[in-house]
Amino acid sequence: MKKGDAALIVLMVAACCFLSHVKADEIFIAGFTNKPFSRTSCFGEENKGNKVVGLSGSTWDDIGAECGKKLRVICMGPVSPDQTKDCNLSSSTYVDVIVVNRCEDCEDGTMKLSKDAFEEIAYEEAHRVKVQYVWVP
Ligand SMILES: *[C@@H]1O[C@H](CO)[C@@H](O)[C@H](O)[C@H]1NC(C)=O
Repeated sequence: MKKGDAALIVLMVAACCFLSHVKADEIFIAGFTNKPFSRTSCFGEENKGNKVVGLSGSTWDDIGAECGKKLRVICMGPVSPDQTKDCNLSSSTYVDVIVVNRCEDCEDGTMKLSKDAFEEIAYEEAHRVKVQYVWVP
């Protein structure tokens, strides 16, 4: 099975079974941060664990984010054709993360995963991957 197929299946299952808000064609770029999210716009210094995500202002608005909502981030492939590493196919196709931060300075259309979350779907050396999303209850 190709990775695109696997991702599509995950997306369809998610769409059928839990979802209202899906725009299946919308692609975002996910990177990660090594630093813990020690201060967030949503929760201040409260620690929400090691599977969290910060969204650029535009991503936040596009997907109708809210603090504390759970986002399923699905790895879709490399950001550019010359990228040698992207989704880790031996690993999970998606990761569920809690929305903790809105970043006004971040590049439009991006999200920043905690390192543990990023490594669950992609190789660290990839630095950035294309992703899609669904909300999970
Ligand atoms: C890819 O995923 C597998 C399964 O989770 C993991 O054991 C492996 O370390 C990952 N590879 C890299 C280079 O991160």
